[in-house]
Amino acid sequence: LNVQIPATSLAHSRRLRYSTVAIVMHWATAAAILVQIGLGWRLDILEGLGRSLVLQLHKTVGIAILLLTAARLAWRLFKPKPMPNPSLTPLEARLSHLVHVGFYAALLALPLSGWAAVSMERSGAMKLIGGVKWPDFPLVGLLPNGLLDGGAALLLNLHYLLVWAMFGLLALHVAGALKHHFVSKDETLSRMAPGAKPGDFAEPRLLAIPAVAAVLAALVYLPNPPEAKARPRPASLAEADVYLDIVGPALERRCGGCHSDDQARGGLSLTGYDSVMQGGREGPVVIPRDPKRSELLIRVHLPRDDKRYMPQGEKPPLGASQIAAIETWIAMGAPRGGKVGTFKLTDAQKAALQGGLPVDENAEGGGGNFGGGEFAGLPKVPAGDAAAIKALEANGFVVRPIAADSNLLDVGYTVKKPLTDEQMANLKKIGPQILRLNLHWSDLTDAQLKTVAGFSNLRILKLDYTGVTDAGVSALTSLKSLESLSLTNTKLSDAGVAPLGSLAKLDHLYVWGSGVTKPAAERLEASKPGLKVDGGLTREDVPPPGPLMQPVN
Ligand code: HEC
Repeated sequence: LNVQIPATSLAHSRRLRYSTVAIVMHWATAAAILVQIGLGWRLDILEGLGRSLVLQLHKTVGIAILLLTAARLAWRLFKPKPMPNPSLTPLEARLSHLVHVGFYAALLALPLSGWAAVSMERSGAMKLIGGVKWPDFPLVGLLPNGLLDGGAALLLNLHYLLVWAMFGLLALHVAGALKHHFVSKDETLSRMAPGAKPGDFAEPRLLAIPAVAAVLAALVYLPNPPEAKARPRPASLAEADVYLDIVGPALERRCGGCHSDDQARGGLSLTGYDSVMQGGREGPVVIPRDPKRSELLIRVHLPRDDKRYMPQGEKPPLGASQIAAIETWIAMGAPRGGKVGTFKLTDAQKAALQGGLPVDENAEGGGGNFGGGEFAGLPKVPAGDAAAIKALEANGFVVRPIAADSNLLDVGYTVKKPLTDEQMANLKKIGPQILRLNLHWSDLTDAQLKTVAGFSNLRILKLDYTGVTDAGVSALTSLKSLESLSLTNTKLSDAGVAPLGSLAKLDHLYVWGSGVTKPAAERLEASKPGLKVDGGLTREDVPPPGPLMQPVN
């Protein structure tokens, strides 16, 4: 490191080389910068758990650089410095001085901006490697909430800019050192690299520098840390964990993009029970036993054009059944977890939780009632009748758009009560908009099913635990878009299932716990390529389904 020093202190040190402490700190900083570059590059391409681990490491090395730089500055103030480098021309000396001042500024500003940005985004959130908590940036807590998100974004942009500035400084610094060593063949490099003889390539101690750099660079290619194993599908609703299998996956999938530990918009992370309960900048978002006052649900129920509606932007919203399940979980007291079967619940609550369980094997977890698979080639429809939607919502239905930019609806019935004619009439009014419909536990009759058979855009239909029979189900052959049909625990028999083979788009049929026999299920599956029939067990094969022993399908 080249240092300009006042002539008066020259007397203190006539040495040309830096002190051992200064040398060690210089090369430690160099190594840390290399590691940060590698980790930063890795951050751009990682997701999930791997990303949070790398981020923790990045924060840790950043804080180490901050402390090291502070120590180096202190060292410079209090310890004798080496003689100015006699090999530099006045212009080179000036340039070198500027580069070094720039380095110190960047080495302080980079970690400070990162630290402040993290603190502004979510107080108490900065974790170093091993989950060690690092305090918030001083005084950030005094800023008004309105400034925090914007401030964090601004600081992160500054952070990225500083990275590019650092690249520029590094290039100048390394080029200068190499030029003096190999071209000018002077003492410049050997002041900081002990043993380096000017102009000499093969000095072992000098070769150690690129060797260590290569090893550090290679670290970037280490395999990703293992991802947490996906939870196995629970065997039944009773076996499902109310948080880990139902609420957590829904929040992570639909909200985790903006509300995670890495990126906590509004100061809120929704990945993990503790974060959810900790709440956001405006306080707790879940108030146990009080869904109506829980900000998390209030935001989700707002009109879509409200500024505070969640999810923000064009992100796919929570499904109707997911919302109903989360609502039930909050009403239960927002427990940390526990098998559904161990709670005392009403049938309506069980139905709502059942609706929140992911169904499809191939759905990316937490898709809620119907799995998380997205839909291709969605039809465009006009907005559904607002009055009908309102009336349905007042009577046990949850009605949500399937995506922010679509009028198609996800409709779920969340109470265990017979459906009235008025409800059926309202459903009919929004029939063309319904893409997914869940009427489980509703005692739906064959006559009412005729109405459903007229919903031309219906792709997923759940009729589990309803009163429908062979006669009613045969009417469903009019549903040309139907892809998935769930008829578990109904009075359906072999005769009722046979006509369903004519549904061209049908690829999943769930008949578990109904009267459909295994041979009939296999016959149907064989007759229609691409169709998977799940179930087909006789009543004797399975224990009678008590309300807590519902099959997942
Ligand atoms: C596209 C990004 C994005 C997605 C996706 C998103 N949010 Fe948000 N959320 C934000 C932003 C930005 C804020 C801060 C501004 C505000 O409070 O409106 C916020 C704030 C919040 C708050 C208030 C926190 C507080 O205390 O201030 C809650 C509650 C919330 N979101 C819930 C959710 C839920 C539930 C979901 C998933 C259904 C979700 N968000 C999905 C961006 C998002």
